[in-house]
Amino acid sequence: MSKVLATLAIAIALFLLMIRPVWAEASADVLATGANVFNANCAACHANGNNVINASKNLKAEVLHQYGMDSLDAIINQVTNGKSAMPAFKNRLSDAQIQAVAEYVLNQSEQGWKA
Ligand code: HEC
Repeated sequence: MSKVLATLAIAIALFLLMIRPVWAEASADVLATGANVFNANCAACHANGNNVINASKNLKAEVLHQYGMDSLDAIINQVTNGKSAMPAFKNRLSDAQIQAVAEYVLNQSEQGWKA
């Protein structure tokens, strides 16, 4: 019985390893779209991951983490609906564009906005 369970556990682990890149890594296409959306809609206020209106709410990894903004859902929600001086983008960007720009922001924050 335990041998069966061990085999099953290994099979599941291998399966998870195999599918992980599909959802863990944003594809190059999505990131390229996200970069375009960012440059056209966000860079005026957030160039290089900064924030020209409220410098303390920038897009650096540790700051996103501090404000609970270090997830796709949180960024998508704020871009869609806006917050204080940040405008809502739901009437200007498609869901796919908002998803892409959120992936781009997260990816850039993880890389220290060096690219
Ligand atoms: C007019 C300026 C402006 C534009 C354009 C703008 N933002 Fe913002 N953004 C802000 C401000 C101001 C805040 C801080 C909001 C608050 O009070 O929490 C903010 C906050 C954020 C945060 C949370 C940062 C944190 O540390 O809490 C994210 C993520 C973000 N913006 C992403 C974007 C993206 C992506 C776009 C483009 C689709 C965008 N913003 C466009 C002004 C802007």
